[in-house]
Amino acid sequence: MSLIDKLQKRYATKKFDASRKLSDEQLDDLLSAVQLSPSSFGLQSYKILVVEDPEIRRQLREAAHGQTQITDASQVIVFASETNIDESLVGKYVDNIANTRHIGRQHLAGFENAMVGTVNHLSEDQKIAWSHKQAYIALGVLLTAAAEMGIDACPMEGFEAGKFDAILGLKEKGLTVSVIAPIGFHAADDDYSHLPKVRRPKEELFIHV
Ligand SMILES: Cc1cc2nc3c(=O)[nH]c(=O)nc-3n(C[C@H](O)[C@H](O)[C@H](O)COP(=O)(O)O)c2cc1C
Repeated sequence: MSLIDKLQKRYATKKFDASRKLSDEQLDDLLSAVQLSPSSFGLQSYKILVVEDPEIRRQLREAAHGQTQITDASQVIVFASETNIDESLVGKYVDNIANTRHIGRQHLAGFENAMVGTVNHLSEDQKIAWSHKQAYIALGVLLTAAAEMGIDACPMEGFEAGKFDAILGLKEKGLTVSVIAPIGFHAADDDYSHLPKVRRPKEELFIHV
């Protein structure tokens, strides 16, 4: 099946089969794909929680209008933006570049200064909004990779962010929730699995200049 066929087949799963779990290998492969998501500067100013604990998921479901995907999926992936985006976060990233690419840190000073300049120019709210955007790119990669691997997922932002932060202890970790995606396998009686895709026609969506 081509990638386009797989993207046609994927859908925002409304009803998961609670008895089916991803294998360790499937989960690891999916997380590897997400790890490879691009981000502005490559900074990856977010963390990603893999939530399995049933009691925590019960609480999260309550804070998400009772949406059953949260308790019935194999795992719930929670994308959470860093709230302290500063020189220290940039510095750690530059250390990582220097180590990974065997580059003397002094050669990265210009890049580091450019990043620090950009970050310091933003208000706290702008930093978090910027970070949320990066997290959504990671969500997009997860959805595409899941489709490619035959894993079902549901992107979700229908939840109370403050409650999610509290239930998951995100504030203490310097994080705040961006968006989530339960992952697993759809239930045989999920009617949404058969619905044709509704998308803007190409001539309306794309502008060729
Ligand atoms: C950022 C985002 C948030 C969404 N939030 C929810 C949600 O809270 N609950 C839900 O059932 N679907 C949610 N959806 C699914 C969309 O309704 C769905 O992707 C859209 O209708 C297109 O359908 P398809 O993904 O099945 O092709 C969300 C999708 C995105 C991308």
